[in-house]
Amino acid sequence: MRLDVVTVFPDYLAPLRLALLGRAVDRGIVEVGVHDLRAWTHDVHKSVDDTPFGGGPGMVMRPTVWGDALDDLVPPAGTGGATGSTASDPDSRPLLIVPTPAGRPFSQADAHRYARRRRIVFACGRYEGIDQRVVDEASERMDVEEVSIGDYVLIGGEVAVLVIAEAVVRLLPGVLGNRRSHEEDSFSDGLLEGPSYTRPEVWRDRPVPEVLKSGDHARIARWRRDESLRRTAERRPDLLRRAALGAADLQTLAE
Ligand code: ADE
Repeated sequence: MRLDVVTVFPDYLAPLRLALLGRAVDRGIVEVGVHDLRAWTHDVHKSVDDTPFGGGPGMVMRPTVWGDALDDLVPPAGTGGATGSTASDPDSRPLLIVPTPAGRPFSQADAHRYARRRRIVFACGRYEGIDQRVVDEASERMDVEEVSIGDYVLIGGEVAVLVIAEAVVRLLPGVLGNRRSHEEDSFSDGLLEGPSYTRPEVWRDRPVPEVLKSGDHARIARWRRDESLRRTAERRPDLLRRAALGAADLQTLAE
């Protein structure tokens, strides 16, 4: 998978080369390119934004600068670029992700969907966002998704890119040591994960739940499922409505 990020703060993306993400890069599972949007500016001040049409506060990022940046990364058809595919096969079209608080909420299901892509380009907006025509025009040769990582407003899209990239890259084959560790993630069965424990058996007078030391795998699985259900009911009742629940689950929830 190749990830390209266009931003006015390339240093913000340094964590893409650390820890698990960095190891995926070192192993050749992911290729990362971070690009300074100011490389595509046209004036001595390297300005990337301008006042909004219609008035109002803040600044809007210029379509001229963004257009040239995206053209270089994903050349439009007929300009000789190898990556400017307009083929109908969605896998051959790059995915452009534009993080914005006005986007659709990013979820684990999206992370799985993105993990199947060969190429993702992230466009980090700052200020009041990017001129909408950039997104509209890019959709002629890329699949475009405007996504939000939550109902709060960040200064720009950079941190959202780190969040999305990490959620996606950890799903790629070979990135996590133990495959089961993401099959059992929170959300993989539509529920929150329950509590976990390790040694020592008693810590500051607090013992590990007895069942986890019983060696009875069926009982342990049932206990974990119950903890997961209780936690989800308490913290995210909205998730329960969509989860596949059996008779034993319903009984736990009724207790
Ligand atoms: N940019 C600013 N706030 C954001 C958010 N909540 N999600 C994605 N991108 C953003």
